Amino acid sequence: MKSLQQRHTFGLPASSNDLVCIHSLSDAHDFVEHHNNAPFYLLGQGSNTAFIEDYEGTVVEMALKGITVSEDDSQYTLNVAAGESWHQLVIWCLQHNIRGFENLALIPGTVGAAPIQNIGAYGVEIERFIQSVQYIDYANNQFCHIARKDCAFGYRDSIFKKKLWHKVMIVGVTFSLPKSWRPVVTYGELATLNAPSAQDIFNKVVAVRQAKLPDPKILGNAGSFFKNPIISRTALHLLQQRFSQMPYYEMDLHNVKIPAGWLIEQLGFKGQQEGDIRCHPKQALVLTNLGEGTGTQLLTLARKIKQAVEQQFNIALEHEVQLIGAKGTVLL
Ligand code: EPU
Repeated sequence: MKSLQQRHTFGLPASSNDLVCIHSLSDAHDFVEHHNNAPFYLLGQGSNTAFIEDYEGTVVEMALKGITVSEDDSQYTLNVAAGESWHQLVIWCLQHNIRGFENLALIPGTVGAAPIQNIGAYGVEIERFIQSVQYIDYANNQFCHIARKDCAFGYRDSIFKKKLWHKVMIVGVTFSLPKSWRPVVTYGELATLNAPSAQDIFNKVVAVRQAKLPDPKILGNAGSFFKNPIISRTALHLLQQRFSQMPYYEMDLHNVKIPAGWLIEQLGFKGQQEGDIRCHPKQALVLTNLGEGTGTQLLTLARKIKQAVEQQFNIALEHEVQLIGAKGTVLL
């Protein structure tokens, strides 16, 4: 058995039968060739996964490394291996005067995981920079490219979470970053910046995140535990009759997005604990492991929150973090 406690940022006690590390494309092809339909789970930095009990399979760690860049008059094109750290890539780009990723500073995880949940923060989602994603198809061990338009990107969503979930191993991502850069400062706390450089935005995002979000190296967590729910305007109007202060973000003509952190805070969960799993006192959407937390405690607290939100607001929260049990994905 291989311990997974240090291999996912929640730090829950769990093991897997085996652990395999992918350092090269040939490692990846070898693994796909020989896994013989035995259960496995592909992991980047384990920052969006919680192992809630021992996993009866092999954990495959993506450690492919490499960044190459080319440019023409209008844009930079980056080819980045799936195992590179996302935040280190953001820093690398700024050091090379390549701008665009700064709003996505300090998001934990690997580059290969970024398209899966279409990482986003402070007004920017990664889909806008993705040109294509490279993967190995488990069915035939072929190396394939998928263009952005075919990735079905949505809010914290993509084809990699749906049709291609557990069907492919992402090995690299190609990004296009236009040289004509414009700051994105639509998000509240960035709006105070005056004619900021990309580095100014990076600094501000880092400061805002550090103020609200617990550092997974110090306090186990996996960022936002739930997605912000999307509801119809009709549902919003009904809710506003009872909860006149309810905040929302515009989505499209028919729908709005509700900050789940607000819903959870209204129900008094902020700071509440189930054993050593706590709803973060500075950001109710984040659940943390105070040290000795277990998968059962995490599921108990998450289910309590989900049920309470459903009862009070008639809104079904969806968890954003992948929950992995003995046989694979676990639902709340
Ligand atoms: N709020 C509360 N109480 C709370 C938390 C939030 O009332 O405890 C309300 C406030 O009205 C606040 C609003 O929610 O103004 C938004 O909060 P915040 O700016 O912290 O963002 P969020 O909607 O909770 C989302 C992303 C974060 C991302 C931030 C900033 C999701 C699930 N989460 O959080 O992403 O960093 O916006 O763009 O969309 C992640 O995915 O792991 C993540 C951290």
